[in-house]
This record gives sequence, structure tokens and C-alpha cells, in this order.
Amino acid sequence: MKSGRILKSFTAENGRHVVLRTPKWEDLDDLLELINSLVEEKADIIRTEKVSRDDEVGWLAGALTRLEKDETFYVVAEVDGQVVGNSEVARAVGGYERHVGVLGIAIKNGYRDIGIGTEMMKMLIEQSKTMGLKVLVLNAFATNKRAIHVYEKAGFVRTGIVPKKFFKDNEFIDEITMTRLLE
Ligand SMILES: CC(C)(COP(=O)(O)OP(=O)(O)OC[C@H]1O[C@@H](n2cnc3c(N)ncnc32)[C@H](O)[C@@H]1OP(=O)(O)O)[C@@H](O)C(=O)NCCC(=O)NCCS
Repeated sequence: MKSGRILKSFTAENGRHVVLRTPKWEDLDDLLELINSLVEEKADIIRTEKVSRDDEVGWLAGALTRLEKDETFYVVAEVDGQVVGNSEVARAVGGYERHVGVLGIAIKNGYRDIGIGTEMMKMLIEQSKTMGLKVLVLNAFATNKRAIHVYEKAGFVRTGIVPKKFFKDNEFIDEITMTRLLE
């Protein structure tokens, strides 16, 4: 899919106008700010180190290439001209699992709990079907109750657990795997 393509716009639960679209090169600084804000707040994501602008340039260049080649679908959420959420479904690399997509999503603090994540999940599932994927999987910290709620609402069910996968703030946390089959 092309970069910068508008897919949907809606009014969030707090009245803010939200645009869902594929990312574009001009999103670089917003995406950098988004990932680093998640690291700073110690969100339940794997990354613990901030990303440099150079590394983000490399990541976005790769992401836009994967988007164009339909290897990965990315959708960002834009509010008042700023990217406040990013998400993706990546097609498994090959072999016997090319029908499997791996999903990831993150919304900036201050823009959560107003329905943006739920709308992005719907969009990711819809596009996964168009990509011919049959199975979606994702992983989450077992402590991430809000994310798990949003995933269950989108039809994902818990299908696995890795005990003590993470060690965060002096505590072990399980990783759970969730799966959604696509018709
Ligand atoms: C998880 C995340 C993607 C969800 O997106 P969002 O835009 O906040 O989600 P929505 O506003 O669509 O929905 C939030 C839902 O969670 C519910 N919720 C909020 N806190 C909750 C909690 N502690 N336990 C259970 N449910 C909770 C809300 O009530 C709402 O439910 P409802 O739609 O049934 O009323 C977003 O919060 C986020 O990016 N968090 C930080 C990064 C992260 O955790 N990413 C996922 C890594 S696996």
C-alpha cells in the first residue's frame, strides 16, 4: 500500500477528530517522539532504550518499503496534525507460516481510553484479510490489562504463556500470546 493513504476518520470519545492512515516520511519526528515517550513512561513494551533520530530514519525507511511491498501493513492515528498512535501487522517471513501476521500497537499517553486503539485494531484485522492472512498473533505483558481487554474485544483469545518472560521493576512478568483466526 502507498504511504500517507487516508483510510478512515472518526470522532473519538472525547470529541477529538482522529484520522487513521498509513505512515509517511513527514511522520518521522512524531514517530520518534511516540516511541521515546513510551520508553520514558516505562510502558509495557519490550523496548527499554530510547531510539536515536538516526535509528528512526533507518526504521521508517524500512517500514515504508515494507508497506509499499505489502509485506507489512502500518496504520497511524493522527490527531490535530500529530501522529499519536502507531500499529502494524507484519507478515511472517516465509516458509510454512506466510499466512500468519504478527500484530503490534501503541498509543501515546494522553490519547488512550478514547477508542483509538479499538478502531486501529478493526482496521488491522480488516487489512489482514485483504492481505490474505489467516491467523493473527500478538504478545503482551500479562500485566497489561487494558491492552488485553482491547485485544479480547477485537476477538483475540489467549493461546499461550511464557512464565517470567520479563523482569521489570524488580518483578517477573509473564508474557501471554493471543491469537485470532480470520475467516
Ligand atoms: C493498549 C492500547 C493500544 C489500547 O489503545 P486505547 O486507544 O487506549 O484503547 P481504547 O480506548 O480503544 O480502549 C480501551 C479499553 O480498555 C479499557 N481499560 C482501560 N484501562 C483498563 C484496565 N486497567 N483494565 C481493563 N480494561 C481497561 C477501557 O475501559 C476501554 O474499554 P471499553 O472500550 O470496553 O470501554 C493503548 O492503551 C496503549 O498503547 N498503551 C500503551 C502501550 C501498550 O501497552 N501497547 C500494547 C503492547 S502489547
